[in-house]
Amino acid sequence: MIVTVFGLGFVGLTTALGFADNGIKVYGIEVDSKKVEILKSGKIPFFEPGLDEALERNLNENFFITDDLKSAINESDCIYYCVGTPYGENGQADLTYLFSAIDSTLNVLCNDKFHVLVTKSTIPPTTTSEKIIPYIESKGYRTGIDLGVANNPEFLREGHCWDDFINADRIVLGVNDNKSKEILRNLYSSFSCPIHTVGLNTSEFIKYLSNTLLATLISFSNEMSIIADTLGDINVSQAFKILHQDNRWSGSDITSYIYPGCGYGGYCLPKDTNAIYALTKSKGFDAEILKNTIKTNDNITSFIVDKITRNISEDSKIGILGLSFKPGSDDVRDSASARIIKILLDRNYDNIIAYDPMAIDEFKNFYNYDIEYYNTKEEIIELADELVILTAWDEFKDLDKKTEKRIVDCRYIL
Ligand SMILES: NC(=O)c1ccc[n+]([C@@H]2O[C@H](COP(=O)([O-])OP(=O)(O)OC[C@H]3O[C@@H](n4cnc5c(N)ncnc54)[C@H](O)[C@@H]3O)[C@@H](O)[C@H]2O)c1
Repeated sequence: MIVTVFGLGFVGLTTALGFADNGIKVYGIEVDSKKVEILKSGKIPFFEPGLDEALERNLNENFFITDDLKSAINESDCIYYCVGTPYGENGQADLTYLFSAIDSTLNVLCNDKFHVLVTKSTIPPTTTSEKIIPYIESKGYRTGIDLGVANNPEFLREGHCWDDFINADRIVLGVNDNKSKEILRNLYSSFSCPIHTVGLNTSEFIKYLSNTLLATLISFSNEMSIIADTLGDINVSQAFKILHQDNRWSGSDITSYIYPGCGYGGYCLPKDTNAIYALTKSKGFDAEILKNTIKTNDNITSFIVDKITRNISEDSKIGILGLSFKPGSDDVRDSASARIIKILLDRNYDNIIAYDPMAIDEFKNFYNYDIEYYNTKEEIIELADELVILTAWDEFKDLDKKTEKRIVDCRYIL
């Protein structure tokens, strides 16, 4: 079995190394030359536990980073697309990177071997049946006969990519021809979790079902935190922790999504909730719960900014603690901290200093904000007039024991 993976980011690199670790020969294709250089030197271009060891075991053994597309594609049984699917027009998913990778594949295909083209990038339900298959067929291929087309959504969490991939709880294969089904089942034969073969739309839908539920739980919790604040004298963290003791789900990881904070962020939940809401609306149904999940996530940003600025003047020094979208990650894409800092700056609170244990460089590169960064939380504690916790890093959990200064704990961790 040979696999080519397009896109060596969080999902693609994990997928490539996961298969390689199971003895499968994997070719990796990546357009970002900086990423390629870092990977070829044996390093991981972002923080993700377990991936560095997996790269060390597999680089140039089972995993080959290549720009020889033609050889890689023609040799491969499966071609995986793990490229980004960011916000597009009107909130819908932007499929430009995906179609560009599909084009690169079709442009070099030149043998009679049956290849399965598998999308692991998150794509809204109906994308494969209404866009990918018609596109491939318009190029003269009969899908299911000359080429297989499949969807294999990924459920990993950043910060746990390797563990979540290797010890997957379920594998979903959206596929509608037997040859592709057999190849994909064979690819995953060493995995011990349930493997579900479902229709293409169902497979794509399952991924959105997961992300929209998580987003809705977070927005519900955030709305309850605003209700608590409005009514007054309610200990929000205490209330939620007692809620978590419900026997029906106590001890489960789901409780981390049923907890208030500053809004969901990161690469997936914001864009995926918007994409399925916008797509469904374009097909005639205005989904009320989802619409309000998104609206609540927008509203929580200004609620948090109001809380931060409630007792300070515009020239106060605001000490931001936490820039990544969640603890244990250096990913700053669509982080709540970025949204909050932007509104603070827009409202002329421009005396902002910030610290994060892992994500300062990423944040600086990604957002061109006129704020000052410090390498330790102690400097922030000393210099700021008010401290604001925006990411729930462990090292902020005893902040109230370290200082008498006013702390706005936007993650309810103290
Ligand atoms: N990050 C997550 O937690 C997560 C979880 C599940 C699913 N997903 C989905 O997986 C997809 C990828 O997400 P990610 O976080 O890994 O993104 P990422 O930005 O980390 O990685 C995507 C990579 O694809 C590369 N790329 C773009 N076009 C290319 C092309 N034509 N050829 C080769 N490489 C190309 C980019 O340079 C980038 O390195 C998205 O659809 C996302 O929604 C992400």
